Amino acid sequence: MSSLEGKRILVTGAGSGIGRAAARMFAERGAELVLVGRRLDALKETLPNALCVSLDHSIDEAVEAFASQCPELDGMFLNAGQFMKGSVESSPIATFDQMMAANLRGPWLMCHHLCPKLKAGASVVFTGSNIGLRAIHDSAAYSISKAGVHMLTKVLALEWAPRKIRCNAIALGPIHTAMVDARLKSSKDRKADLARLSKVNPLKRLGLEVEVAALAAHLLGDESVWTTGCVIPVDGGADAVY
Ligand SMILES: NC(=O)c1ccc[n+]([C@@H]2O[C@H](COP(=O)([O-])OP(=O)(O)OC[C@H]3O[C@@H](n4cnc5c(N)ncnc54)[C@H](OP(=O)(O)O)[C@@H]3O)[C@@H](O)[C@H]2O)c1
Repeated sequence: MSSLEGKRILVTGAGSGIGRAAARMFAERGAELVLVGRRLDALKETLPNALCVSLDHSIDEAVEAFASQCPELDGMFLNAGQFMKGSVESSPIATFDQMMAANLRGPWLMCHHLCPKLKAGASVVFTGSNIGLRAIHDSAAYSISKAGVHMLTKVLALEWAPRKIRCNAIALGPIHTAMVDARLKSSKDRKADLARLSKVNPLKRLGLEVEVAALAAHLLGDESVWTTGCVIPVDGGADAVY
């Protein structure tokens, strides 16, 4: 189990789902947390004693102002994101813009402005998606934004290597969070759709939030110091077989 003792780690999207599970796990492993999301009450509910910051990570001036006051960091789990469905043909440009803002512009701005706050040897973990690795129907703008996150990971692994700052991404498969509930909202048979989602990988189940959090903890910890520039599928084997 990776210890995060003595590390200060920032988590975005920490008010729900994977980010909340990760923040709690990192705290249990000894980290001091900085929690970011748009809903302060949700962040406080995750960890009442953490530094909680209400911030939309896609707003340049807001991220810049936050960065000027943020303490030095040993790591970041840049996990916040949103999902909207639609094909290239069916999606209005607003969908494309929103997916890019929430999923790619946000992490870009966090890295751009917080770069000076990262200590030498820090580690940054991004939440990508396994549908940013392979195309599926009806998720075009989301998938493209997550593919951008995967390349951002690799570019930063190169740019920040001289400071020994590592960057890796976790390309998740489906996990039953608020995001999946929202995705299935208009479903005619929600139960059947959930069952279908859980069968698209060889292990034949949805993932758990803590299974992603545990890998993020490993990548943020010192046991993984030679791992950088990786995009790691965590999807029950789906990426390997489809
Ligand atoms: N669940 C899945 O099946 C799945 C699969 C692949 C990848 N992912 C990725 O996993 C990450 C976490 O998602 P989740 O499943 O845990 O869903 P979730 O519960 O909806 O979490 C998303 C979080 O992102 C935050 N967020 C959204 N837009 C933001 C913005 N503009 N600025 C700051 N924070 C923002 C939300 O908080 P506020 O609303 O309070 O801002 C929320 O806490 C996302 O990047 C998602 O794309 C999820």
